[in-house]
Amino acid sequence: MVRWFPMVDVLDRLRLDVPVAQAGMGGGIAGAALAAAVANAGGLGTLGLVTARQLRSAIDQVRAKAPGRAVAVNLLLPFLHRGHVDVCVRAGVDVVVLAFGEKRGLIGHLRDAGIVVFVMVGTRKQALRAVAGGADGLIAQGREAGGHLVGTMPALDFLPQALAVAGQRPVFLAGGIADRADTSTALAAGASGVVAGTRFLMTDEANANRAYQRRIINADKTIETNLFGFSWPLRHRVLPNDATRRWCRDDGMAKAVPAVFNTVSGPLSLLGYFEAGPLLRLQSPGRPLFTPLPPVAGTPDSWVERAALYAGETALRIGEITSAEQAVRDLTPE
Ligand SMILES: Cc1cc2nc3c(=O)[nH]c(=O)nc-3n(C[C@H](O)[C@H](O)[C@H](O)COP(=O)(O)O)c2cc1C
Repeated sequence: MVRWFPMVDVLDRLRLDVPVAQAGMGGGIAGAALAAAVANAGGLGTLGLVTARQLRSAIDQVRAKAPGRAVAVNLLLPFLHRGHVDVCVRAGVDVVVLAFGEKRGLIGHLRDAGIVVFVMVGTRKQALRAVAGGADGLIAQGREAGGHLVGTMPALDFLPQALAVAGQRPVFLAGGIADRADTSTALAAGASGVVAGTRFLMTDEANANRAYQRRIINADKTIETNLFGFSWPLRHRVLPNDATRRWCRDDGMAKAVPAVFNTVSGPLSLLGYFEAGPLLRLQSPGRPLFTPLPPVAGTPDSWVERAALYAGETALRIGEITSAEQAVRDLTPE
């Protein structure tokens, strides 16, 4: 049976008070504290990818802290284990956001379990494939977004293409969302809601290293690169640091040595998501091996020079750390 949720239904179906979603940020950045705070503020809180066991516990924590609210989980396809899918199905999460890849039958499997499935896309072709695969909705990512990129053009330029493909399905806009004027512009352009990553990274509840957050407050530039691509050589947007200054070319892309390491390490992602803290410990601005792991809370401040400082173009406009509740309020049109 074909069953998806037209735009008018999506906020009701997900019990959202406001059309604002927090992006699932992996590597430990977006955990239960952030997702629950966003959910309690009326938005869609999303758990980033961690191990399957940690994910199960995080879902339980969101449910305990934000009873009656929707729980969303971001599944990063390159690092997906069957265990992650089983956890989402068994826990009966409300939403899964699929990103950065495809897996045959996965959308159908999740939907059969009653889960609303969004797919993040950055091209018309990806949008067509997501819709053909049965997605309930799309997240249209622009190239200005923080973190890994499927986006290939400014979000508002891509939105009409995504809307045309989506038909009656809801499309949320990701990239360039820092305040309520951005949300209003996205809604006026036809989006059903917005997804913000960097704005929620800059909250008390995000599990990010504080020195990383301070870098965002002081940011005057982001770069699109593929440097932090050990095991996952996909383009991403970061703030510059010692590692990028040493190993990126003028156009932002990795120089030859790290580029080769990234290419040959691609198959490592088949091992799935694992605790890669020890790898980050080995990382240094002088050694051309750069994993995708961001500096989370509790890591030494000096690691901001060796790890990926994911941030979108909104970093240039965000000047403070607030509560997640305040961030939701700031993103909500009056
Ligand atoms: C720190 C950080 C980590 C991210 N991690 C993920 C992730 O694990 N999975 C994912 O689908 N998107 C991830 N993203 C991208 C977001 O889904 C979203 O597209 C992006 O944050 C939107 O742009 P903005 O940061 O300008 O709001 C990440 C973004 C940031 C800033």
